[in-house]
Amino acid sequence: MNWSVRELEMKDVPILLDWYNNEDLHYIANAKKFKPYTLDQLTNYWREKLSRSNAKYYVILVDERVIGRVGLKKKGNSVEFSILIGDAALYSKGLGTEVTRYFISGALREPDVTSIYLGVRVDNLRAIRCYEKAGFQVTNEFYENHIKMYEMEIDKISSTDL
Ligand SMILES: CC(C)(COP(=O)(O)OP(=O)(O)OC[C@H]1O[C@@H](n2cnc3c(N)ncnc32)[C@H](O)[C@@H]1OP(=O)(O)O)[C@@H](O)C(=O)NCCC(=O)NCCS
Repeated sequence: MNWSVRELEMKDVPILLDWYNNEDLHYIANAKKFKPYTLDQLTNYWREKLSRSNAKYYVILVDERVIGRVGLKKKGNSVEFSILIGDAALYSKGLGTEVTRYFISGALREPDVTSIYLGVRVDNLRAIRCYEKAGFQVTNEFYENHIKMYEMEIDKISSTDL
């Protein structure tokens, strides 16, 4: 697939709005209660997110069209990873795994980063399979809003085996 990435910019917020307001997509990816946004609310929310010094956000493009986003949030020597592809027609074609591998290898090249982790609903089997293919392993289970979640992690040492 012909994909690329670039840093997320405020001009992308209207595209994100469609994904935020898609209740089915929300409950695939989230344990938080669904709450629709207005464009103004989401614009303010992302203005604040893009001002954070410990986080970086990217959009994924396929054939120049924004179809998803990625987040990397630094916490000490770890990085929290998140990914969302908004166009369901692109699921299960290997894109998520390729993009995840790209970002984890980049993050693990940072000298001070020792591990990357994420949280995923245990019923999100497609995402779990994608993360496993990219090298993540389940390290913990927890509940968020009564939804069972896995914490998955990849560390610098085990990633050298990939
Ligand atoms: C999660 C996501 C990023 C994965 O990207 P993707 O491009 O669909 O993933 P890939 O195609 O690389 O890998 C998905 C794998 O899961 C498999 N899969 C799909 N549905 C499945 C299911 N119900 N059960 C088990 N495996 C499943 C696919 O066959 C594929 O595995 P394979 O290559 O061995 O055949 C993307 O689907 C997405 O953004 N989904 C909606 C939002 C979301 O869930 N975000 C993650 C929140 S933690």
